[in-house]
Amino acid sequence: MKERMLITGGNPLEGEVRVSGGKNTAVAVIPATLLCDEPCTIENLPDIADVYALVDILRALGAEVEYVPNLFMRVDPRPADGWQVSYRDSQRLRASYYLLGALLGRRCEAEVYLPGGCAIGARPIDQHLKGFAALGAEVEQLGGRIVAKAENGLIGSDVFFDVVTVGGTINVMLAAAKAQGTTIIYNAAKEPHIVDLANFLNSMGAKIKGAGTDVIRIRGVQYLHKATYAVIPDQIETGTLMIAAAATHGDVVIHGCIPTHMEALSAKLLEMGVRVSDSDDAIRVRSNGVHRGVNIKTQVYPGFPTDLQQPMSALLTTAKGTSIIQETIYESRLKHLTEISRMGAQVRIMDRTAIIEGVTDLYGAPITATDLRAGAALVVAGLMARGVTEIYEPHYIDRGYEHIEDKLRSLGAVISREKGE
Ligand code: EPU
Repeated sequence: MKERMLITGGNPLEGEVRVSGGKNTAVAVIPATLLCDEPCTIENLPDIADVYALVDILRALGAEVEYVPNLFMRVDPRPADGWQVSYRDSQRLRASYYLLGALLGRRCEAEVYLPGGCAIGARPIDQHLKGFAALGAEVEQLGGRIVAKAENGLIGSDVFFDVVTVGGTINVMLAAAKAQGTTIIYNAAKEPHIVDLANFLNSMGAKIKGAGTDVIRIRGVQYLHKATYAVIPDQIETGTLMIAAAATHGDVVIHGCIPTHMEALSAKLLEMGVRVSDSDDAIRVRSNGVHRGVNIKTQVYPGFPTDLQQPMSALLTTAKGTSIIQETIYESRLKHLTEISRMGAQVRIMDRTAIIEGVTDLYGAPITATDLRAGAALVVAGLMARGVTEIYEPHYIDRGYEHIEDKLRSLGAVISREKGE
């Protein structure tokens, strides 16, 4: 028997829930500990598969790591003398590519296999490599791995990105934090986790200005001292819970989030007829079940995030009228809608656009997650549907959502998991 998640739909989510620390911040901040010259401590990390993969990678490189899930991770990078990440470890998560920037910054040499992660498009990393080369590294792609070395050290430089890239911006920040001189990144990404990584590095003594704008200035320093740092809450988990609350016609308060990070989603939910209100660190989402269709075009921050397009388009399958989804970031991020069509959704997909005609009800069916956020979209669909939905390949969801069944059950969802053999 294969592992599957089982959801009996139709129960409104009600109550209060706390959001976990950000996955996409955690996967940048953990490699960044390698740049520190003293032990450092990270708090508020989400208890998810990607974090465990990074613990194994840091240990394989020789760092001492003490990880107590939901409390702290203490990393002593001083004994780390490795500079190569194995094929198996590189494949365990997309963000293994941050080891390139972190190891280059630490010891001017790095070898990492091309990353794994979700199959949502081609996902090249040419801009990361161009950034390393601008700082003076020799970068080669050999036998499926990237080898980067800067024999004369990394020298600060101007880096112009051809496309706005979150990963490229983070990787160049990592490599440049201890380079000689100043690096200026133009056309930088502005996502909240870029600001969070800059704050973490600055808390250790780095000199980074402008994170959160499209020009970031990094004055290299020689030494980074110890720090204790708590990562920001997960913007995408917050958004997924908001969508799930609306989808089940529920009333949920999400605590510990940053409402300003959620503005693009909140605006769309309000446009649909969902009630959204917020305070300093909480958002309440209420729905009476009457939803209007809306159009979504994914964009870089502060636009509508691609990572929420999938759960949001699941919600739109039962909204009144037509909704048009345009996925501009990835070529192949609409596969969840084909699965949700098995549950009765009316969807036409043309290249990167989906046209959804809202139906009154979805019906439970066996469906398969094809990536992390597709999995989240299927959970939303299952919560809305009549009857029982079986989600296969739920391990994708574990890559980015901490204890998702427990959180949803605490709000009244009927959800469980059957382990595979
Ligand atoms: N791109 C290039 N060349 C590059 C880098 C990117 O052409 O060198 C293109 C990509 O193919 C894509 C676009 O630029 O079309 C944006 O890619 P970006 O580099 O911004 O994405 P990423 O760093 O690979 C991160 C998150 C993703 C999230 C995107 C966009 C992490 C580990 N991943 O990916 O998160 O979708 O930014 O916000 O932070 C997820 O959490 O489910 C997830 C996929």
